[in-house]
Amino acid sequence: MTTADSIADSDEASRARQEMVDKLVASGMITSGDVERAFRTVPREVFMPEGTDLAAAYNPDDAVAAKRDEHGRIISSLSAPFIQARMIEQAELAPGMSVLEIGSGGLNAALIAEVVGPGGRVVSVDIDPDITTNAGAALDAAGYGGRVEVLLADAEHPVPDLDEVDAVIVTVGAWDIPPAWTGPLAPDGRLVVPLRMNNVTRSIAFGRVGDHLESTSLEVCGFVPMQGDGEHHERVFELPDPRGGAVKLQFDVTPKDLSPLDGVLAKPRTELRSGVDIPRGVSFADLHLWFASFLPGFCRVAAGEGTELAEERRWFPFGTVADDGSFAYLAIGPTLEGIGDEFLARGWGEGDAGPALVAQIQAWADAGRPQPDSVAFWPNGGDRDLPKGAVVLEKRHGLVTISWPAAP
Ligand SMILES: C[S@@+](CC[C@H](N)C(=O)[O-])C[C@H]1O[C@@H](n2cnc3c(N)ncnc32)[C@H](O)[C@@H]1O
Repeated sequence: MTTADSIADSDEASRARQEMVDKLVASGMITSGDVERAFRTVPREVFMPEGTDLAAAYNPDDAVAAKRDEHGRIISSLSAPFIQARMIEQAELAPGMSVLEIGSGGLNAALIAEVVGPGGRVVSVDIDPDITTNAGAALDAAGYGGRVEVLLADAEHPVPDLDEVDAVIVTVGAWDIPPAWTGPLAPDGRLVVPLRMNNVTRSIAFGRVGDHLESTSLEVCGFVPMQGDGEHHERVFELPDPRGGAVKLQFDVTPKDLSPLDGVLAKPRTELRSGVDIPRGVSFADLHLWFASFLPGFCRVAAGEGTELAEERRWFPFGTVADDGSFAYLAIGPTLEGIGDEFLARGWGEGDAGPALVAQIQAWADAGRPQPDSVAFWPNGGDRDLPKGAVVLEKRHGLVTISWPAAP
């Protein structure tokens, strides 16, 4: 490559970077001046796996895979710009702060380093030596080597010799909150973590209140799951489809007996209307968390290749099973009047699953389509004055409570 070529390349990258930031600002994903400046400065292309084109590197909405396991599943990625921006803003960083990042890649650490400035400190920890090696090399190449310390460790456990930090930003999907993340956090610090709550993940910013953590903000997100000692597997149950393939149901809270579901996909199809409309362009992500909070038998649904469900359009991967062996999932379709869409419960097997799903869609709508008032984490061993009426999820290191403005 000639010097003229590399100048042309960097001009193109710089244009792509500014266009991406313009979009993130316009969509409200970046609201802080410091974060905007960081995103306009850090050259994302330097951190990308070889062969990544600029369009992928600067797509505001998508992550770029960095490593896959032997089954082809992504186990490391450079996170999507929109969620990197949201999480850095959730952490309320300011110049001079010190930050612990869990899960490396170099890119997010460079963005954090830009926000906290030369007087700040960034420590980034990853469990995978390939990732720490690549992250270290990319940080050096982009000029952040002296400002970010990259460590190889399982972040389920405390990082040795770490002083108090102003923020911990977890960039890997977590099912729990180990003491290793709260221990080094300053009294007024922020822990930002993509937390899985009964199969639904939100990036939650927590602050300390007494001996527990209270949320200050929630963002919709998806992350590769934690590996190592903090790994958590939800139970997966397969429903064979008579056409071939299988529909997989993933449970965090597993019903006592799943055997009544045997052969359910050979039973008659069902469809129930909810009468609850879906305003155009309005997110209904809060309904998923409502299901995770209140819908008995709640599960995540994945349709394997060849199944009838895989060919269907307009459904969402959230469902429920009932003791009578029926199964229903969230779908949408035109209203009876033909104006706009409404939520449906589609499924197999006459029984309680469809009516239970519809009842919770209606309860959420009747409550004013709310989002949770707050999420809290109550570590083991502390006083537990749990909020009245809150949904309680048991974790290994404590309890998570979700408080809604109006519970059904
Ligand atoms: C989404 S990637 C990190 C993205 C990155 N921060 C960026 O710059 O966009 C998640 C990372 O978490 C790492 N990880 C998974 N389990 C871990 C653990 N127990 N401790 C530390 N890192 C872990 C994975 O190896 C993976 O590289």
